[in-house]
Amino acid sequence: MLPWLRDGHANPSGAYREAKRARAAIDRAREQVAALIGGDASEVVFTGGGTESVNTALHSLDHLTGSGNAVVSSIEHSAVLRCVEAMARGVSRMPVNVGGVLEMDALAEQLKVAAFVSMMMANNETGVIQPVSEFFQMAKAAGLPTHSDAIQAAGKIAIDVKALGVDMLSVSAHKFHGPKGVGALYVRGGLAFEPLLRGGGQESGRRSGTENTAGIVGMGVAAELALRHLRNDGATSISAMRDAFEAKVLGGLTGVTRNGDTTRRLPNTSHLSFVGCEAAGLLILLDEKNIACSAGSACMTGSQRPSHVQLAMGIPEPLAKSSLRFSFSRLNTMVDALMAADAVIAAVGRLRRVQGDGVGPVVVYSP
Ligand SMILES: Cc1ncc(COP(=O)(O)O)c(C=O)c1O
Repeated sequence: MLPWLRDGHANPSGAYREAKRARAAIDRAREQVAALIGGDASEVVFTGGGTESVNTALHSLDHLTGSGNAVVSSIEHSAVLRCVEAMARGVSRMPVNVGGVLEMDALAEQLKVAAFVSMMMANNETGVIQPVSEFFQMAKAAGLPTHSDAIQAAGKIAIDVKALGVDMLSVSAHKFHGPKGVGALYVRGGLAFEPLLRGGGQESGRRSGTENTAGIVGMGVAAELALRHLRNDGATSISAMRDAFEAKVLGGLTGVTRNGDTTRRLPNTSHLSFVGCEAAGLLILLDEKNIACSAGSACMTGSQRPSHVQLAMGIPEPLAKSSLRFSFSRLNTMVDALMAADAVIAAVGRLRRVQGDGVGPVVVYSP
């Protein structure tokens, strides 16, 4: 990215030499992102991040479909939920089971009154991978257009848009070590599409606005590195760290629950509830030890409300407020994972002593 930030002043739409260099760099990134998700480069539209990708997809579906509901899961990210709630149509929120996996039983009924469907590939709090393939097959059979928020999944598990048969799919660079504020939307070739951002007609008219060359180049390289890591079985080394972390925490503490169906999680995510410990207090104690984790989703951190994802899974409210999400990546080591577990054990022990097993407000004493 650095050369493009320092010297990349050219507008990729220009006709001069430097502009053509920028255009070529963007086209290369388009191929790199397409490879990560199994699409063609022509089907990749760069955006200003995951939220914009989701809003663009849902806006198009809303605009081009007739009456009927938007069918989504009850555990979608707020980017999807707030967007469909703002539409002048009904919203069917599909339930999940206690493991955070989408329940398919009621789907056939819901599809009868649907205009389109949007289903996340993996949940951003629990990491639980959803049965999107079966879901999209049923939606396709009902003749409905489909979108998947794959923002949490991309770069962590293999994605093949063609095998999935999905019409649109959102990804975001910063979820796989790319820069923030740049994302991509896969739009299946030939799909009717209504742009959200209109203007100069960039991205083949699908997303107007002068391209963020440095960000896009960064996203492309991040996609290539993530794909290489996945193909070298990198997911196994990440889940080994996550599993060692969980084993140590679960072995060292009582009153800990591991949330989400452990047979179908992203390799990097651990979502734990600590009886008698408010997440807000734990976050402070862990931050003192340089451990950056989050309560619920990162954007919910600081909120007093329990997360809608945990409530949808039937996790009782006090426990939902005692939950933390830990994420691991290829930039961590096993030593990091085990040190994090030690820090969690110490922080929970300390907080339980001052909180008296969940009675009373959070009080964190400095050492
Ligand atoms: C599942 C999911 N969808 C959407 C988003 C929003 O993406 P962005 O932060 O790139 O706008 C996130 C980010 O946390 C996410 O995890």
